[in-house]
Amino acid sequence: MESHPHVRVLRGKKIILGVTGGIAAYKAVTVASRLAQAGALVDVLMTEAAQKFVAPLTFSALTGRSVATDLWSLGNGQIMHVALAREVDLFLVAPATANTIAKLALGLADDPLSATALASRGPLLLAPAMETGMWLNPITQQHMQALIQRGAFTVGPMEGRLASGAMGIGRMAEPPQIIEMARKVLGRNGPLAGVHVVITAGGTQEPLDPVRFVSNRSTGKMGMALATSARDFGAEVSIVHSPLQVSVPFGVASVPVRTAAEMRAATFDLLPRTDVLIGAAAVADYRPATVADQKIKKKSGNLDIELVRNPDILGEVGAQRQQSGRPRVMVGFAAETEDLLANAKVKLESKRLDLILVNDVSAPHSGFGTETNQVTLLDKWGDVLPWPLLSKDEVADRLMVWVARRIQGKGLADLGA
Ligand SMILES: Cc1cc2nc3c(=O)[nH]c(=O)nc-3n(C[C@H](O)[C@H](O)[C@H](O)COP(=O)(O)O)c2cc1C
Repeated sequence: MESHPHVRVLRGKKIILGVTGGIAAYKAVTVASRLAQAGALVDVLMTEAAQKFVAPLTFSALTGRSVATDLWSLGNGQIMHVALAREVDLFLVAPATANTIAKLALGLADDPLSATALASRGPLLLAPAMETGMWLNPITQQHMQALIQRGAFTVGPMEGRLASGAMGIGRMAEPPQIIEMARKVLGRNGPLAGVHVVITAGGTQEPLDPVRFVSNRSTGKMGMALATSARDFGAEVSIVHSPLQVSVPFGVASVPVRTAAEMRAATFDLLPRTDVLIGAAAVADYRPATVADQKIKKKSGNLDIELVRNPDILGEVGAQRQQSGRPRVMVGFAAETEDLLANAKVKLESKRLDLILVNDVSAPHSGFGTETNQVTLLDKWGDVLPWPLLSKDEVADRLMVWVARRIQGKGLADLGA
C-alpha cells in the first residue's frame, strides 16, 4: 500500500516548540513526538523553569535535534535565537505559562524562548496552562488580548481538572487538539484559502418508529478525512453529517442531521455560501413511508414495510447549478459493488458533477469502515484515472489538490497524479 504516517501540511515544516515551566510540560513531550513523527522539523526551546519538569534529553531524543536551553550558547558558531527565528513556519508555545505570556506581550527577551519569539516573524500559537486564578487575572487577560491583536493564535485553555486538584478553566488543551490547531495555522494561507468547502458525510438514518431506523454501514471516515484535508489546505469547512462513529475534526463546522430530508435542507441552507460541495454521505435511497408514533410491537406474522424514495440531494443541487453558479465545484462518491465505471459515469452525468470517485465497496480494503480506499476518478471531460490503494487521508489530500486546481480552472489532465 502506498501510505506513510507523514501529514502533508506538517511534512518538512520548521516548527519551534517553546516549553515553559508548568506541570503540563510533560504533555509537550507528546506534542513534540507527534509533530516529529508527522514529518515536521521540531526545534525545542526550554525555559529554565521548564527544565524542572522535563529533561531536555527527552525532547532531543524524540525530535532528533538539539534542544536550546541557554541564551548564551552558540550553535555551529551562530547566535542561536537569531538562527532559529529565521524561516520558522510556526512558533508554538505549549504549555505557555502566565509568566511567559506576559514576557511575550511586553517584548521581553531574557531567555532562549522569549528572545527567539521576539526575533521570529513566523505565526505564534499559544497553548496557555495555569491555575484558574492566574488565567482569569485581568493582567493575564490583557496580555493575551495584546498578543491576539498582534496576530497570535491560541488553543485552549480548557475547563477541567487542574494540577492542584481543583476544577476550573486553565487546563492545557490536549496534545491532539494542539496539533490540529497547529495544522490549521500552518494551512491558513493554503491553496483553498478563502474557499468554503461543504462536505456531506455518514449514512443517513431513516426512522421506522421511535427506536428503530433504516441505515447503512457508512462510518463517515472518508468524510472526516476530506474535512481535515480541506482545512489543512486553508479552506473554511462545514460538514453536514449523520450520527457518526468518528469525531468531527478540530476547526471544522459541524452540522448534525439524521435523515436524508434533514441533510438536504442543511445542504441547501449552506448552498449560497458553498464554493465546493463534496457529497461523501451514504444517503439512504429509501425511507419508511410512515413513522410509527410508538414502538412497533412484535406480532406472530411477517411485517411489511413500505419504502418510498428519498430526495436525491446531489441531483437536485446539480439541477440548479447553472442558474445559481453554486457550487463552483461539485464532487460525488459512488460506492458500487458491480459495473463500477458504467454506474459512476451515469451518476456523474445525471447529477451534473465535475468529478466522481468510485470505489468497490465489496473489495477487502476499500469502502465502509476501512482505513484505506481504492478509488478511480472520472471527470466530466471524460478522463478516467485509477488511483492505487491509499489511506483515506491520502485520497482526501489528492482530491484537494484536484479541487484546488479546478478552482483555478484546470482539469484532471493537469493533475499528473
Ligand atoms: C509545581 C509548579 C507548577 C507550576 N505550574 C504552572 C502552570 O501550570 N502555569 C503557570 O503559568 N505557572 C506555573 N508555575 C509557576 C511557574 O513555573 C513560574 O511562574 C516560572 O517563573 C515560569 O517560568 P517560565 O515562564 O520562564 O517557564 C508552577 C510552579 C510550580 C512550582
